[in-house]
Amino acid sequence: MRTQVAIIGAGPSGLLLGQLLHLAGVEAVIIERKSPDYVLSRIRAGVLEQGTVEMLTLAGVGGRLAREGLVHEGFDLAFNGARRRIDLSGLLGGRHVTVFGQTEVTRDLMEAREAAGLTTIYEAEAVALHDFDGSRPSVSWEKGGLRQTLACDFIAGCDGYHGASRASVPACALQTFEKVYPFGWLGILADVPPVSHELIYVGHERGFALCSMRSHMRSRYYVQCAIDEKPEAWSDDRFWDELRARLDPATAEALVTGPSIEKSVAPLRSFVAEPLRFGRLFLAGDAAHIVPPTGAKGLNLAVGDVRYLAEALSEHYGEGSDAGIDGYSARALARIWKAERFSWWMTSMLHRFPETGEFGARMQLAELDYLFSSQAARTALAENYVGLPY
Ligand code: APR
Ligand code: PHB
Repeated sequence: MRTQVAIIGAGPSGLLLGQLLHLAGVEAVIIERKSPDYVLSRIRAGVLEQGTVEMLTLAGVGGRLAREGLVHEGFDLAFNGARRRIDLSGLLGGRHVTVFGQTEVTRDLMEAREAAGLTTIYEAEAVALHDFDGSRPSVSWEKGGLRQTLACDFIAGCDGYHGASRASVPACALQTFEKVYPFGWLGILADVPPVSHELIYVGHERGFALCSMRSHMRSRYYVQCAIDEKPEAWSDDRFWDELRARLDPATAEALVTGPSIEKSVAPLRSFVAEPLRFGRLFLAGDAAHIVPPTGAKGLNLAVGDVRYLAEALSEHYGEGSDAGIDGYSARALARIWKAERFSWWMTSMLHRFPETGEFGARMQLAELDYLFSSQAARTALAENYVGLPY
């Protein structure tokens, strides 16, 4: 088998890259370790930057997003027992975010790829990358007891944090930067109406909490928990009681609870790999970086990488220019590090860090107090949350 671009991973990064390359007339095959159902079973954040919505629309998968996505023009920050609103649209001349589950983004991208008759190899085992530092790269895998090989011009490593792509790069060629936070997020999904029409990020002495949603009838809530917390140690009632304890009285009173349809604990980490290009291998999305979910940047940052990589590869095939390819890593990393900073800042401001003591707690309150006494500070938060320009 041969193609122009071999994409490893059929998550949002790989699927969006495949779609943008297809629209640019560049041939790509996606090799995915899991089944389509497994890929769709992942529960992930769904706050889309305006740029992400524009990219998905450009990719031809913006229809359902436009019909079902929830436009949010602001969100609340709650601390010291009160909720105060960050008016994104008022601060940024009408710009906003859209709430639309990542699973739905992935589903629409999968359906568009299938409708275009493009090749995706699911349930590919023992995926291996070959000769990407030379001029004849290839990807091999096993399926049905047979090992198959795909020759290509380029490999796009879109296989996430635990994938084979970054792991195939010699350690001496890679520099990584990592911060593991001393806590996790215990999340619950329930078919109950959200407690508010917008998101509420809560800084509380018991720990961080987040009130989010998937639709007008499906809510997503999180509470900061111990790094080794087990979801099975939390009954639904225990979760709802803890969430109420972190909310202001009026919001706690308004909370509609119900049986959980999913409950899980997620660790929080910041991670970046540098550089993002190794010969004919490029890293994009979670294969290249991880952000704590506080700033809702994971999917949006992946979309930025994919936009740059799709432009670069399309330029190579369309105009015979390698300027985009040569500049991809530096261009993507400039945006990645700003999103890492914002996600770290939001996480540091809103979570409980016992090890930083009373002084650390006062710094957090001062940060929040400054936010609500300075329009410049709120504008800085808003432009990072809605998404910096590409
Ligand atoms: N071979 C083939 N596929 C692989 C391999 C491998 N060795 N390892 C992992 N994969 C697949 C995974 O099964 C997954 O479907 O690569 C895909 C990677 O998808 P994601 O982890 O979702 O990463 P990405 O597409 O970059 O999307 C980033 O997902 O994790 C969230 O918060 C993150 O919202 C962000 C988004
Ligand atoms: C979510 O809805 O899962 C969500 C929303 C906003 C975040 C993180 C997660 O910052």
